[in-house]
Parts: sequence; structure tokens; C-alpha cells
Amino acid sequence: MKLLFYAAKTYDMKSFDPELADFPEVEIDYIEHELDPKSAVLAKGYDAVCAFVSADVGEETLKVLKNAGVKAVLMRCAGFNNVDTDAAKRLGIMVKRVPAYSPEAVAELAMGLALAVNRRLYKAYNKVRENDYSLKNLRGVNMRGKTAGIVGTGKIGAYMCEQCRGFGMKVIAYDMYQNEALKEYVTYVSLDELIATSDLISLHCPLTDDTYHMINIESIKKMKDDVILINTSRGALISTNDLIEGIRLNKFLGVGLDVYEEETGNVYEDRSDEIMQHSVTSRLLSFPNVMITSHQGFYTKEALAAIAQTTLQNLKDAMAGVSTGNDV
Ligand code: NAI
Repeated sequence: MKLLFYAAKTYDMKSFDPELADFPEVEIDYIEHELDPKSAVLAKGYDAVCAFVSADVGEETLKVLKNAGVKAVLMRCAGFNNVDTDAAKRLGIMVKRVPAYSPEAVAELAMGLALAVNRRLYKAYNKVRENDYSLKNLRGVNMRGKTAGIVGTGKIGAYMCEQCRGFGMKVIAYDMYQNEALKEYVTYVSLDELIATSDLISLHCPLTDDTYHMINIESIKKMKDDVILINTSRGALISTNDLIEGIRLNKFLGVGLDVYEEETGNVYEDRSDEIMQHSVTSRLLSFPNVMITSHQGFYTKEALAAIAQTTLQNLKDAMAGVSTGNDV
């Protein structure tokens, strides 16, 4: 089985190659180019292609893949908003994805961001490197005894609840579908109550029409002063312009973002030598209480191994014409 792996990074090869021991029938060729209508022609002679979040898997690409003889598109991620699933069905190309991989990885980054912005670890690190051993501007708060408000208690949110309990926090949550298993120590409340009473707010729900800009200037004004806000889900859950207004109102002790509205185009690219034009991100980064990471929540050894295993199993299933819960 021949697989062409688009937009390959070194870390992809390091996580997929070891898993090939369990899939001796699979042969992978890695290329750096992103999958799009032009590069799709390179897949001639391959049984399947593997693509990621920024690929263009629209109808045009799928038609080229079909003509090249490709039978399956394997997304090495959970999301598939960049795939024209109707066109894939029409063309008879199977699309599979990795719906879940190490939710702990994302929750642990969320807690890491909360701790880092609370204690200004990013500043402390640089200060000591500069021989500045003063404690100026580093004062944080104890997490123990504070209220954590978790929005969305699915796979990742549930683990975030567990971590917050471990820190001795009172845990409240909002979700349209309550997770019975958490009710031993989590109290479900309305979104309004969560916003108004939490010391730490962490977002773990998907981006939908309902959740788009769920954090906006109205909700920010209802928050407690000195709240910590964490987003590791999707950038557009928060209105960035409203967040900037809220930061200027001195609402936040800290803001930690692994995702933000302007991230497309930045994610996994080195743009350190570019002059950024009209960048809202740059404005956000100008505040001393904001820390941004670049969509690295999933990026652990365990999560990458799980993605590789599932993707290779998806390839085997697709070639055997087997439908599973991973079908898109
Ligand atoms: P999940 O599907 O297990 O949980 C999502 C939860 O959100 C569900 O309990 C659902 O009922 C709830 N929800 C849906 N609509 C809601 C609303 N309007 N208000 C409140 N809750 C609502 O998803 P999982 O695996 O926990 O992932 C959560 C999010 O994390 C994903 O949507 C994705 O955007 C993000 N993610 C980020 C990664 C990163 O690298 N930073 C990696 C993987 C996922």
C-alpha cells in the first residue's frame, strides 16, 4: 500500500516511521508540499494521501486525486472542515480522520498556560537570563481554593476538570450535555454564572455558530477582576478585538492562548524575519499578561504516536473498503 504524505515535517516522520513496524505492507513517501489542486497530481501511483489541517481538500483537488488513481484521503487530525466531503462521496474517495488522540495533551497545555500566565513564567525566565533577580511584576495568586470554570466537558474539558481538582480548586462547568461521570466533584452552572464567578476560565468546546465569539466584551465585563482566561480550542471562540478592549480595562490577571483568530498562515511557520502588517496578534503580544503558543496542544510524543497508529490503521481499513467510526 503506497501512501503519499503531504506537508511532512520532521516530527511527522519521527512519529510515523516507528509505527510502520506494525504495518509492514505500508510504504510512505513524505513530501514538504501542501496538498492542493496543483500538488495533487504528484499522487499518481499512490493508493492514498495523508493531509493535515491547512491542506486544500476541495473538489478541484479531489478530482485531480481521482484521476491520479487515489482511493483514500487520510486526515492526520480530528477536524475536516477543509475537506469537501460531498465531492469526495461523489467521486468515490474514502475520507478518514483521527477523531481522538490524547486529550490529556491538550488539557495539560491548558493548565501549563494557566500556571505560566499566573506566575509570569515567560517573564521570569527571561529576567533571570538577563541577570535580573528582582521579583518585580511577577506576583501571582494561589490556585488552591480558587474557582475553575470549564466550558465544554468532553474529552479534553473532562481532563482539565480533573487537573483543576488536583490543584484544590472548586470546579464548575458549562456544557449543553452534562458529563455524569464528573458530577462527583463538578457543579454544572449556566454559562452566565460560570463567566461571573470563575477565577480561571478555560474553553474546551468546539467552534460552531453558537460558540463563535462566545467570549466578547459583554461577557468580559461580567467576569471577575483578575480572572485568568485560557483558550486551547479554537481562536474564534474569543473576539480578539473585544479581548484587547478587556485587557485594556485591566480585567485579566493573565490570558493564555494556544489558538487565536489570526493563526491561519502562522501555524507551524517560522515568520521571525517578516515585517508583520496590521497584526492583531502583535498587539496582543504587546501586553505583559498575555502568553501565546502556536497550536501545540496536541504536540506530545504520545499524541503523535496515537495519530500515526490510527492513520495507518485507517489506510488499511480504507484499502479493505471497511467503514469505521473514523469515516468522514
Ligand atoms: P469533545 O467533542 O469531546 O468535547 C466538546 C464538548 O463541548 C462536548 O461535551 C460538547 O457537548 C461541548 N459543547 C458543544 N457545544 C457547546 C456549547 N455551545 N457550549 C458549551 N459546550 C459545548 O471535544 P474535545 O476532544 O474535548 O475537543 C475540544 C476542542 O479542543 C475541539 O473542538 C478542538 O477545537 C480543540 N482541540 C485543540 C487542539 C490543540 O492542539 N490546541 C487539539 C485537539 C482539539
